[in-house]
Amino acid sequence: MNKQEVILCQGLENSLTQAIDKCPHDKLFILTDEHTHRLCLPKLEGMPALQKAEEICIGAEDVHKNIETLVQVWQTLSERGATRHSLLINLGGGMVTDLGGFAAATFKRGITYINIPTTLLAMVDASVGGKTGINFNGLKNEIGAFAPAACVLIETEFLRTLDAHNFFSGYAEMLKHGLISTPKHLDELLAFDTERPDYEHLKQLTGQSVQVKEYIVEQDPKEQGIRKALNLGHTVGHAFESLALAENRPVLHGYAVAWGLVCELYLSHIQAGFPKERLRQVNLFVREHYGCFNFDCQHYERLYELMKHDKKNTAGIINFTLLKDIGDISLNQTADKTTIFEMFDFYRECMGA
Ligand code: GLY
Repeated sequence: MNKQEVILCQGLENSLTQAIDKCPHDKLFILTDEHTHRLCLPKLEGMPALQKAEEICIGAEDVHKNIETLVQVWQTLSERGATRHSLLINLGGGMVTDLGGFAAATFKRGITYINIPTTLLAMVDASVGGKTGINFNGLKNEIGAFAPAACVLIETEFLRTLDAHNFFSGYAEMLKHGLISTPKHLDELLAFDTERPDYEHLKQLTGQSVQVKEYIVEQDPKEQGIRKALNLGHTVGHAFESLALAENRPVLHGYAVAWGLVCELYLSHIQAGFPKERLRQVNLFVREHYGCFNFDCQHYERLYELMKHDKKNTAGIINFTLLKDIGDISLNQTADKTTIFEMFDFYRECMGA
């Protein structure tokens, strides 16, 4: 897999012009959704490098991350004469970068694309690392491909207008990167004033967070080993997200990850000796900023079944990434049903569910 260039922009126009220059193309397309068409595209208007760009606008939110939207993008590219030498720019959150990346990976067996993530979640996670795809058959990211963008341009100015829920959703992935990297990085994240963010400081933290992900993806682009570290919090998090969806009370991905981190750090403590004080610190942060996902003991079996069907498992054995300490990662761990139910008890007790 090609290495992708990730650039922390000092000015989007300059970085985008250089990125486009490095990707020879016959036609240029820019993919937006209804939100980024209205809120972000105007910030790119008037840039000479985009003068000939043709926009393709799709529906926003996860409900549109499906085969119908993908067909719409393929169809539009085809009707407007895109060739295998055309270039696609994805301007949006994770839904746009995942779906646009997959459209690019598959159109005429693959065209070059550039990501411009506009949410914190997309900046620190979704747009970096080459995972592209769509939801299918009720399953998230069921169809997709590893296909890195030629370049990812991180413009943190977009964060100034991000609502609090989407801010915290992305921040959960940053906490995860803190937990799998160094105590210093984690402490800085836990101490950051999220109520009155200093955007220069946030830019610096975002850059550090992206570096954690890049470093891991470079070593293991196709998730055979160390990339599984990025799944910390996600085994339980995905089960919470699916349960919430099934019960018609959907939650943002990062919120489910934050609650999943509380559970999986408890497991890390019990099974791998993760320090109790660190567990307490993270729990306090999550309770204060993310509230609590409510469920009772009647949900335990359902959550357990959801975890068993996670696509990261092999032979139905639930696979966890656990920590012995900050940055000290244990891959391919499992836990018995009794311990998993104790983990849910712990979560409900300490989060006040
Ligand atoms: N979001 C986790 C990964 O990219 O591997």
